[in-house]
Amino acid sequence: MIHKIVKYGQPVLEREAEDITEFDTPELHQLVQDMFETMYAAKGVGLAAPQIGIGKKITVIDVSGGEGEPQQIVLVNPRIVHKEGKQTAEEGCLSFPGFREQVTRAKRATVKARDARGEEIEVHGEDLLARAFQHEIDHLNGILFISHVSVLKRDLIKRKIRKRIKAEDWF
Ligand code: NI
Repeated sequence: MIHKIVKYGQPVLEREAEDITEFDTPELHQLVQDMFETMYAAKGVGLAAPQIGIGKKITVIDVSGGEGEPQQIVLVNPRIVHKEGKQTAEEGCLSFPGFREQVTRAKRATVKARDARGEEIEVHGEDLLARAFQHEIDHLNGILFISHVSVLKRDLIKRKIRKRIKAEDWF
């Protein structure tokens, strides 16, 4: 099932999500499937549960974007255990449609998490995949990509969104 994506301004996006404690349940497997479906439909490369209104620590990532060989990664209760290097590139977020900004992040990242069955996993990413890990895990901690841009740019984005909310052209 494709879910509606929650946009900036909804409190669930700025709250720390809760750990998942029950694994390998039909509900969790269904959630994973729904999150991939929703992400591909929106042409994203990552989606965190708060973005569909669910305050739980789970994110799905596929940097292939649904084109070519799938590279599906499911991270439950993830944490970054190592970061190194730097990369700067344009970044967007499905909760901020129409906005893209240059964001500097670590070039490589290692993540420890569980999969949907509850198995412990460790994954390494570089470049776009490392960026996706950092962006999505931020989401699970209530941190949005605009907190990685200058105050000036952040205020400009917020102002534009407030205008769109007033014009009923946002939620
Ligand atoms: Ni995002």
